[in-house]
Amino acid sequence: MIVVFVVAVAENGVIGRNGQLPWRMPTDLKRFRKVTMGKPVVMGRKTYESLRKPLDGRDNIVITRQANFAAPGIHVTASVEEALALARKLAGARKVDEIAVIGGAEIFRAALPFADRIYLTVVKARPEGDTVLEPFDAVLWRETSREALPQSANDQFAADFVVLDRAH
Ligand SMILES: NC(=O)c1ccc[n+]([C@@H]2O[C@H](COP(=O)([O-])OP(=O)(O)OC[C@H]3O[C@@H](n4cnc5c(N)ncnc54)[C@H](OP(=O)(O)O)[C@@H]3O)[C@@H](O)[C@H]2O)c1
Repeated sequence: MIVVFVVAVAENGVIGRNGQLPWRMPTDLKRFRKVTMGKPVVMGRKTYESLRKPLDGRDNIVITRQANFAAPGIHVTASVEEALALARKLAGARKVDEIAVIGGAEIFRAALPFADRIYLTVVKARPEGDTVLEPFDAVLWRETSREALPQSANDQFAADFVVLDRAH
C-alpha cells in the first residue's frame, strides 16, 4: 500500500485562493475523482471546508487540532500520523492499494516524508493566490509519466498530468 499525493499546482506554485481553487478546470476535477475513487482521502480541515461535504465513494479523513471538530460522514484525526494510520486500516479493509493525500499546502508539507508517489497536475498559468506549494525536489522525485490533459471549452487553462515517483 502506498501514500500518494493528488495535487494541482500552477507554474508559480499557487494551489489555492480564498479557500478555493484558483481556476475552473472540470477536466482535472474528473481526473481527480477517477484517481481517488474508492480510496481513503486525507485532508486538512481547511480543504475539507472548501469541499463543503464529504467526497462520495471515499473514506474522508480530516486533520485538525480542534478537539471538538466533528461532521457527518468524516473521520476526524489530530495529526498526519494518526490520519495515515487510520487510512491504512481503511484501505486494507477495502482492498485498495493507495491512500490519497489531497491537501492543502499545510498537509502536503507535513505529509511529504510519507509520500511515495505524486499525481501532479501542472496548470499552465501563473494565477494570483494565497496558498503556495514549494516545487518538489528533483533529486528526490523522478518523473515517470507526463501527458497533456485534454482541454475542454470549460477548462480555464491547459495542463499536464504528471506522475512523480520517489527516487530515494
Ligand atoms: N490545487 C490543489 O490541488 C489543492 C488541493 C487542496 C487544497 N487546495 C487549496 O488549498 C487551500 C487550503 O490549504 P491550506 O494549506 O490553507 O489548509 P489545509 O492544509 O487544507 O488545512 C489546514 C488545517 O489543517 C489542520 N492541520 C494542519 N497541520 C496539522 C497538524 N500537523 N496537526 C493537526 N492539524 C493540522 C489545521 O486545522 P485547524 O485549524 O482546524 O486546527 C489547519 O488549519 C484552499 O484554497 C484549497 O482550495 C488546493
